[in-house]
Amino acid sequence: MALPELLNKAKTFGQEKLFNFYEELTDEQKKILLTDVQNIDFNLMQDLFKKLTNTKEETAETEIAPIPCTDATSMCEEERKRLYDKGLQVLGEGKMAALTMAGGQGTRLGHTGPKGTYDIGLPSHKSLFEIQCCGLKKVSAQAGCKVQWYIMTSHINHKDTVEFFEKNNYFDYGKENITFFPQTMIPAMDREGNILLENKYTVLKSPNGNGGLFASLKNAGLFEKMRDKGISRIFICGIDNCLVKMADPMFLGFLEDSGHKAVAKSFIKRTADEKAGVFCRRGGKPTVIEYTEIPLELAELKDDAGVWVYGDTNVLNYIFDIDVAESLAEVGMSYHIAVKKLNCADFATGETVVIPNGYKFELFLFDAFSQLDSLGVFRIERKEEFAPVKNPTGVDSAESAREMYMAIHKEEN
Ligand code: UD1
Repeated sequence: MALPELLNKAKTFGQEKLFNFYEELTDEQKKILLTDVQNIDFNLMQDLFKKLTNTKEETAETEIAPIPCTDATSMCEEERKRLYDKGLQVLGEGKMAALTMAGGQGTRLGHTGPKGTYDIGLPSHKSLFEIQCCGLKKVSAQAGCKVQWYIMTSHINHKDTVEFFEKNNYFDYGKENITFFPQTMIPAMDREGNILLENKYTVLKSPNGNGGLFASLKNAGLFEKMRDKGISRIFICGIDNCLVKMADPMFLGFLEDSGHKAVAKSFIKRTADEKAGVFCRRGGKPTVIEYTEIPLELAELKDDAGVWVYGDTNVLNYIFDIDVAESLAEVGMSYHIAVKKLNCADFATGETVVIPNGYKFELFLFDAFSQLDSLGVFRIERKEEFAPVKNPTGVDSAESAREMYMAIHKEEN
């Protein structure tokens, strides 16, 4: 589309400010702006802005109930081994890929590069990416088969991520065993509903949340490529948990054994206000209520025995059957809104300014659970498998994660 059409389209939606600096741009910059504007789904952005005020009411109307879970922490050794061996066999047949969602910005941590490049301060100075790669090497050796590794980046960090792997020789895992793919981006808005500019010729965009995963895999043609490799299961995790058990055979064994098409790990939350989502059923369907959205009375609710009613907390570690994952790529999910401090271009001067309460939009992967007939929740021991690096200091920081990692991986720090 050329300028007149795009400008008209933007005007129809009251977004003509995006062209405030058009006349002073170079040809190259004009091209960038036109491409950016062409990629905006104006209808979606308008709908999102309209919905900003009534999201809470919609959520409150649906009935929320606890969800059953399988408690791996109370299983006998024999049963754990049975599940482990079952999973290891499937892994050895090359049927499961591992996928790391690393498209987020890691703003809470204050690290400027891709979060996976973060050094948590181990004696070896292994980055979060290398920690995950070590886990994959180990389990691949046990299974006798290299687990294929997929890494979701975003346009913000794709280039830096790939360069980091190249510089580190792909941690000797083999370039051919690692696939990077970028996720979709979505524009940010101010409180008046204006789509923002990052500078005079670029729309301010952010990754569209980890719920963009399945659609991004589909856009990149990766479901087909996985199938060509004989992959039928996808292990999914975030980048920030340095105790994640990559391609965990026991977890895979649980999926195989239970007949669920999707399984998720949980641990019991530490406090009612822990910054992690909890599993539940909403309208009879499995889901997670995120920590930013759970009403306090539900977060604090305990049964007569003093046990949290909504205590099973989302580790952000799932396994999906590939057909189910692909079907979820087509599901229209609702965006969640985050109010954030944003750096953007002032519409009058083009100078960078900070707006304290701009809107970012994110899809949450677990919202897709509502499309599933069932979800197997698999409770694990927190201290063995959950050491997230989210904050610069204190709770869930590099410091706490480092201590937990060193306690478990004594020989290979
Ligand atoms: C997430 C979970 C939360 C869980 C917690 C455990 C979601 C929405 N929330 O919270 O329920 O209890 O982990 O630690 O899943 N990411 C992308 N692209 C994006 C956004 C995020 O790849 O657009 C990745 C991040 O790089 C990270 C993961 O998704 O690896 C989770 O990131 P974030 O959105 O920050 O969620 P948390 O607050 O950590």
